[in-house]
Amino acid sequence: MKKLILLAVIFILLGVQMDLTAQTGNNRILVVYFSWSGNAKALAGQIANVTGGDLFEVKTVTTYPNVYDECTKIARQELDTNARPAISGSVTNIQQYNTVFLCYPNWWGTLPMALFTFLEKYNLSGKTIYPLVTHGGSRFGSSLDDLKKLCPGAVIGEGLSVSAFDRNPNDDPRVTVPNRDVTSWLRRIGMAR
Ligand SMILES: Cc1cc2nc3c(=O)[nH]c(=O)nc-3n(C[C@H](O)[C@H](O)[C@H](O)COP(=O)(O)O)c2cc1C
Repeated sequence: MKKLILLAVIFILLGVQMDLTAQTGNNRILVVYFSWSGNAKALAGQIANVTGGDLFEVKTVTTYPNVYDECTKIARQELDTNARPAISGSVTNIQQYNTVFLCYPNWWGTLPMALFTFLEKYNLSGKTIYPLVTHGGSRFGSSLDDLKKLCPGAVIGEGLSVSAFDRNPNDDPRVTVPNRDVTSWLRRIGMAR
């Protein structure tokens, strides 16, 4: 009888252990970002810190000029020609992730074209994508509609838009929002305690 009870306890504990493993396995997070002047990068870093997600930077093979006006001209040309700028590096085994944060600046009302390249390269169907945009006034622009088209079968979760002018003097000057803003959004979407 004692042996039976012991066996039952072992099975229950094993069951609990497997359940926990499954939860961890179910919650693999990837934080993808593209950033020109550092805002989206800083926020992506905060998300990765809070959630424990893996960070991946989308880098173009040809870098954009450091001068704002020159960068906007090239970006405008890319938008007008529906370009797909070449990107370097790749995500290792994207299938292991079921949650993807996508952090990007609003460029001419939508996602930078390098993210069109990125999103067309990977099949994100079945995953939940949480977009975070940094912007100079246009918030998400049409990027959410474009995101839906670029990621068929993915769920687009609640996003966060962050103004580039919403600086917090106590923070890193390159970071545009207090940490707690990102954290309260992460809490709302169930990604932070
Ligand atoms: C090429 C380019 C185009 C931009 N277009 C817009 C725009 O259409 N609307 C807007 O609100 N902000 C626009 N901005 C401002 C950026 O969205 C804003 O500065 C953002 O915070 C930059 O993020 P980053 O530091 O991660 O590059 C543009 C900036 C650049 C460089």
